[in-house]
Amino acid sequence: MGIENRVAIITGSASGMGRDTAFMLAKKGAKVVINDISEDKVDQTAKELRDEGCTAIGIVADISSKASVESMVSQTMDTFGSIDILVNNAGVDRSGPLRKLSEQDWDITLNVNLKGPYLCSQAVHGHMVQQKRGRIINIASRAWLGGPGQAPYSSAKAGLVGLTRTLALELGRNGITSNCIAPGLILTPLWYELPEKTRDFLKAKQPSGDIGAGEDIANTVLYLADDDTGYVTGQVLYVCGGRSLFSG
Ligand SMILES: NC(=O)c1ccc[n+]([C@@H]2O[C@H](COP(=O)([O-])OP(=O)(O)OC[C@H]3O[C@@H](n4cnc5c(N)ncnc54)[C@H](O)[C@@H]3O)[C@@H](O)[C@H]2O)c1
Repeated sequence: MGIENRVAIITGSASGMGRDTAFMLAKKGAKVVINDISEDKVDQTAKELRDEGCTAIGIVADISSKASVESMVSQTMDTFGSIDILVNNAGVDRSGPLRKLSEQDWDITLNVNLKGPYLCSQAVHGHMVQQKRGRIINIASRAWLGGPGQAPYSSAKAGLVGLTRTLALELGRNGITSNCIAPGLILTPLWYELPEKTRDFLKAKQPSGDIGAGEDIANTVLYLADDDTGYVTGQVLYVCGGRSLFSG
């Protein structure tokens, strides 16, 4: 059945894989909400989509603030009249070795990566329950399995897996699915900042032999967002070229 005319909020979608996901969903006929914290980038991304004939609005909101999230959800309802798909994509990574971590690193990483998805899910779920239909898709990371020097990030993403599974149990009878995507290495600006030697080393360890792109994540979101994927819920889907098979 696809996603045509479904309304999708994608958090953190003025950049990276959130942006790729917004373009993918919009081009498949969804009405999308571009959310991020930079007004210029939000407006620019929504405009680019409209210029391509898609239906899109931009809403600036900090997903770690309850008031900000509630305002985003009511603006979406006022504009489109429903919310069918929530992609909790926005994320930050303030990691480092335990001895060097600050309380602030911990708080911001947990607030954006875990509290944000909780607030957004809570704010949309009532609308989804009413319409007996909804898709919650959380972008975690393969790093939820644990990674040295990644205490806040791994902890937040592991918490997101727990939230995903819990929402699947709690909301399943209302036609709402809750799933998680765990990306591995993805070609983002950060990847190109790594020394060439490190990139070669990481690439050589990939079972698939290559590094993924934002479109790999967007395609997986599209699958989970589809009306026909209602029997898939509570799952963690790795999109990592097989790296989760051997590394934490
Ligand atoms: N890039 C990777 O290799 C990789 C791997 C695994 C998981 N991930 C996860 O994928 C998601 C997207 O990552 P990306 O690489 O595209 O990153 P990105 O930095 O390009 O995009 C993240 C976006 O989130 C926004 N954001 C940050 N704080 C926010 C807030 N409080 N409210 C709203 N928006 C906020 C940022 O402004 C940014 O535009 C993240 O959750 C990240 O943890 C990325």
